[in-house]
Amino acid sequence: MPGAYRVLTAAELEAVGAEPLRELAIDVLVGLSSRPKRLSSRWIYDDAGSRLFQQICDLEVYYPTRCEFEILEAQKDEILRRLGETPFNLVDLGAGDGRKTRVLVEHFLAAGARFRYVPIDISEGAMRELTALVQKEYPGCEVAGLVTDYFSGIAYLAHQAPARRNLVLFLGSNIGNFTRPEARALLLRLWNAARPGDLVLVGFDLKKDIDVLLDAYNDPQGVTARFNKNLLARINRELGGHFELDRFRHYATYDVFSGAMESYLVSLEAQRVAVDALRTTFDFAPFEPIHTEYSYKYLVSDADALAQATGFRIEARFFDAKGYFMDALWSVEKPPESTETPASRGEGSR
Ligand SMILES: C[S@@+](CC[C@H](N)C(=O)[O-])C[C@H]1O[C@@H](n2cnc3c(N)ncnc32)[C@H](O)[C@@H]1O
Repeated sequence: MPGAYRVLTAAELEAVGAEPLRELAIDVLVGLSSRPKRLSSRWIYDDAGSRLFQQICDLEVYYPTRCEFEILEAQKDEILRRLGETPFNLVDLGAGDGRKTRVLVEHFLAAGARFRYVPIDISEGAMRELTALVQKEYPGCEVAGLVTDYFSGIAYLAHQAPARRNLVLFLGSNIGNFTRPEARALLLRLWNAARPGDLVLVGFDLKKDIDVLLDAYNDPQGVTARFNKNLLARINRELGGHFELDRFRHYATYDVFSGAMESYLVSLEAQRVAVDALRTTFDFAPFEPIHTEYSYKYLVSDADALAQATGFRIEARFFDAKGYFMDALWSVEKPPESTETPASRGEGSR
């Protein structure tokens, strides 16, 4: 059986104009030298981070996973109906363990749909486990995963032939990790890479009772704290960092103005930490924070405005019974001149 996934090489990424993957060292140097200090949440997701996120999904307080399961179960038939009869790619951006996507995979297979499953994830460990599981559980399912980041994966897909309709999933509130301008830039790239008739299903965590939000990011078992601290653990593993994780605490709060859950790691004391690969040290004052993650919450009107600003047509809005979460189904319409060849589509040209 051919390999079910592959890691895009630097040469392949360069060929499609995508950025090289390994920027961790530069990001850490810039982020920890900044005032206030920051580290991008994208680095949380190495293999250990992906496993911790899967544990978060099992937590009672972490409602998004249950809400989206409920939506996909209720709407799987409707989604397939809108895809029609022609073969398509089921592209899963930031697939993780694909537990929710499997609701669609199972349904599509049972209905005899002809499709290829293309999970894309930055974590090779998550991809290895996901593709092995899909091959074992669904031997009839064609799976072709890509280990790369969102932007490179999107750029790579745009250069693939022959043309097949795509259903692109961006589930689990992944979009919430981006600021509004960043989310807009990502969706513009996706629109540019997409073909007319493609569908995207985007998960939006909706604004809600602030206590529900705070509980979801402050679980009593401390899984979210371990997940956040994996940033420091990863710097220790990959860059020869000397962070002592007990000397930092996880802190998550909601900013009512921006509508974001914000995560921090707060230094519990004055300390100096060396990072060997960077040949430098970083000084922390007592209670100095490192900003590590945004998770923006949306109003339905915010999500609609994002679709309109990035060229997508709103096809449907699917909600769970509590109204905590929305999966928005959008389609891609393009004037004929922008559909000539995949290569003719520039990025960020709108
Ligand atoms: C919040 S989890 C969501 C997983 C799954 N889609 C779900 O809804 O439960 C985010 C996933 O996206 C992956 N990821 C994070 N940043 C990424 C990036 N920049 N490019 C590609 N994948 C990324 C992580 O490895 C992780 O598996």
